[in-house]
Amino acid sequence: MANKSVWSDNRFWQRTATWVTGFAAVLLIWLTFDTSAQISMGTDEDLKQGVTKRVPGPTVINYKIEYLMDAKRGHEVPVIGGKNAEGRSAFQEKEKFFGRDDWTEEEAGALLHLGKLGSQAKNCMNCHTLLGNGAYYAPDLTKAWLDPAWGPEGSLQAMTGKNTKEEAMAEFLQHPSQYPTHERMMPNLGITADEAKGLVAFLKHMSSIDTNGFPRNFGKIQGAVHGK
Ligand code: HEC
Repeated sequence: MANKSVWSDNRFWQRTATWVTGFAAVLLIWLTFDTSAQISMGTDEDLKQGVTKRVPGPTVINYKIEYLMDAKRGHEVPVIGGKNAEGRSAFQEKEKFFGRDDWTEEEAGALLHLGKLGSQAKNCMNCHTLLGNGAYYAPDLTKAWLDPAWGPEGSLQAMTGKNTKEEAMAEFLQHPSQYPTHERMMPNLGITADEAKGLVAFLKHMSSIDTNGFPRNFGKIQGAVHGK
């Protein structure tokens, strides 16, 4: 017994296994609670109080959203309502969404819900990825709202003949096959005007989520997609 190495001692391995399993269980439980807190949706009050949430409340659709480089974090982050002195969300600058920048929490929530149901019913994930989940036939939609091509001087907005980003996207979603923008065309999915509005709200909200810089190099990727 005296010369037995600890590495061949059964009790040593039993104890180690017990400790490792116990530690991993505690860690997983802690991570579960931490993640739930991180991904829980913020509220209108948070936005008004300038509280940054990883997933902002539905009324974020009333605000201007930009995607700016955060030098400290080394990737782009959504900046909501203009930026403050530190380059972070100032929650000040509003932006009209279908003519209004005073969508209430209930109205905005209902619109997002409609969009989410629409995205499931029409199975956008069959071709696109949302937050990285889905198929790779068409571009990731996580930050589609922030694609400059939908902006005032963008090729996609120009193509639809509309004057705002949200109207241009809604028009595209209702008649995608009229607007071949790429080698691959998005087929008509029978999306109604109301559904399109909901879907655009859903996409705008999704673009405001802090995804730790995912998808990587978004600006460059989108430039390549649309050959700008
Ligand atoms: C059958 C496959 C398919 C389905 C289903 C589909 N799409 Fe697309 N979508 C495409 C393709 C292909 C493109 C074209 C890519 C391009 O031209 O840049 C596209 C382009 C887009 C674009 C423009 C891309 C950009 O850079 O902004 C948006 C927005 C979009 N789809 C939203 C949706 C939404 C929302 C749904 C679900 C309601 C959906 N798509 C369902 C295939 C699909």
